[in-house]
Amino acid sequence: MSKEKEKDQTQGTSISRRSFLKGVGTGAVAASVAPSVLIDAETAAEAQMGEEITRAKIKLDINDKAYEVEVESRTTLLSVLRDGFDTSGNRVDLTGAKPICERGECGGCTVQVDGKAVYSCMTLALDAQGKQITTVEGLADGDQLHPVQEAFVQHDALMCGFCTPGFVVAAKSFLDQNPSPSHEEIKEGLAGNICRCGTYPFIFEAVKTASRKMGG
Ligand code: FES
Ligand code: FES
Repeated sequence: MSKEKEKDQTQGTSISRRSFLKGVGTGAVAASVAPSVLIDAETAAEAQMGEEITRAKIKLDINDKAYEVEVESRTTLLSVLRDGFDTSGNRVDLTGAKPICERGECGGCTVQVDGKAVYSCMTLALDAQGKQITTVEGLADGDQLHPVQEAFVQHDALMCGFCTPGFVVAAKSFLDQNPSPSHEEIKEGLAGNICRCGTYPFIFEAVKTASRKMGG
């Protein structure tokens, strides 16, 4: 089939790649993600299917430090944090965010972008330019742990610990927006994060304690 004919037929169905992805993306978000978690699934998926992969040097503000990195249009923020190098050849080396599902389902890769919890596996590095990115490594103040981190330690709110960085960032972000939540609100607020070890009761208690410590 000729390219022209192919194009005509695609247009004839009135389903563009963008509108198709929009439909799929909306369902996925509604099914699995807490409202506070921002996902740009449409953009990420589009880039993965991408026909035009370009490279660009961009600046990212991560934990109040400026990084210049070279990325492809499809590079995720998670990939830059864990495996990226700056343009001087130094590793970014922020491995707190975990690549567990890498499809926006588990929350292990949660970081804050402009104060909102996002899945870094579903956020394009290009889209994080000009925004303030905070990873779990950026929460402590020197040797002083953030109250959410302290509360997780106090309540022993982890087993294997793989989900913990994502939960800590999601909980911090949630408490920033809702400083004195009810038990039900905590459950709902953290619904975008999964713990395969089932430490939810300890995590919820830790969030309540952190809320009190933070004055909520
Ligand atoms: S690794 Fe990003 S949501 Fe699971
Ligand atoms: S502590 Fe193991 S997955 Fe949560």
